[in-house]
Amino acid sequence: MTKVLAFSGSSSARSINRILAETAANHLSDTDFTFVDIRDYPLPIYSVDLEQSDGFPDEASAFKALLSDHDGFIIALPEHNGSMPAIFKNLIDWLSRMGGKIFQEKPVLLLSTSPGQGGGKTNLDMVTTLMPWWGADVTGSFSLGSFQDVVDVDARRITDAARAAELEALVQAFETRVRTY
Ligand SMILES: Cc1cc2nc3c(=O)[nH]c(=O)nc-3n(C[C@H](O)[C@H](O)[C@H](O)COP(=O)(O)O)c2cc1C
Repeated sequence: MTKVLAFSGSSSARSINRILAETAANHLSDTDFTFVDIRDYPLPIYSVDLEQSDGFPDEASAFKALLSDHDGFIIALPEHNGSMPAIFKNLIDWLSRMGGKIFQEKPVLLLSTSPGQGGGKTNLDMVTTLMPWWGADVTGSFSLGSFQDVVDVDARRITDAARAAELEALVQAFETRVRTY
């Protein structure tokens, strides 16, 4: 059975991006899906000095092992000041020092949502451009604005039919790529 790992690049316990990742994962038809909270992998701010004195944190090694153990990734990213949240960038910085391509040339579906209309698209577009440098095979990206207006949180469902269909199609394309990876 192929295995997908999903996570939100958020430091918030009430992450709306986490909800979007779970909403997307519900469209997987025949693939195991695990959600991880990156807050469970706390890392010090990356520093060359720290790496030289202490090596890699166990949490960074554990997250790298998770990436190795899964066949594809659904990643939902908040936008902070037009860019990546510090917690996600810091994870990427540590992983980038540990050898090999971070996402190991595996399929990645990128998502983003925000309470405002922008849907975190500025950051999403930037990360979509950067991801291949990190070894990701990006199969699609999806930005959803006005989260509170268009998501039924309890049902983990997008209420706007056109946007829901768009996400479902992207998840199906992602799942097909994962299965042939
Ligand atoms: C420090 C900070 C900066 C933010 N900057 C942006 C921004 O540039 N664009 C945007 O659409 N939302 C911005 N927001 C609002 C986030 O979209 C909102 O907090 C959202 O809930 C974050 O997603 P999360 O709940 O998954 O963490 C910012 C929020 C914070 C706390």
